[in-house]
Amino acid sequence: MKKRIAIFASGSGSNAQKIMEHFKRSSEAEVVLILTNNPQAYVLQRADNFEVPSHIFSRHEFYDTDNVIRLLKNLQVDLIVLAGFLWLVPGSLLNAFPNKIINLHPALLPKYGGKGMYGDHVHQAVLAANEEESGITIHFVNEQFDEGEILHQSRFKIEPGDNLEMIKFKGQQLEHQHFPRVIENLLKKMKS
Ligand code: GAR
Repeated sequence: MKKRIAIFASGSGSNAQKIMEHFKRSSEAEVVLILTNNPQAYVLQRADNFEVPSHIFSRHEFYDTDNVIRLLKNLQVDLIVLAGFLWLVPGSLLNAFPNKIINLHPALLPKYGGKGMYGDHVHQAVLAANEEESGITIHFVNEQFDEGEILHQSRFKIEPGDNLEMIKFKGQQLEHQHFPRVIENLLKKMKS
């Protein structure tokens, strides 16, 4: 049986798209659901384009009910992928899917992680610190923002004169290139 992936995203969903593209013709795994807290998120359009079902949830539903957990269990989800998802994952969801939730972060953790460190805020902090390199981190999720065990990092050089858009672009290229492959390798290692 194919491994079943659910993706949480809060915004554009370009990574969700790359993952859906990657597994569209795979015999190993499939994306079975896109979940978002944001009814305006463009990721919903992308899910439609790939004919992947989606679910929008409220803060109350996510933190005070078991609806999302039940939905994921009913769909027999094997791996939960956070791809630009900005809310902290509640303990109940972590307990329901131990070692089965991973996150993408646009910097080289443990630097530039934690609450409030997402998207452009991360790149701005990297620029302000005059770093010579940045990169991406894919890690398991625990109760703290950006602190679980690291699965993968790739890095790029920051050239003199690189601005926020340039750093964002370089990071996004790495994300799109590596995230689907890291997911595929992890699924291969997971027992069914
Ligand atoms: C990605 O760059 C991801 O690393 C970042 O949000 C972006 C989502 O882009 N995630 C975080 O900042 C989490 N702390 P996308 O919606 O186009 O995939």
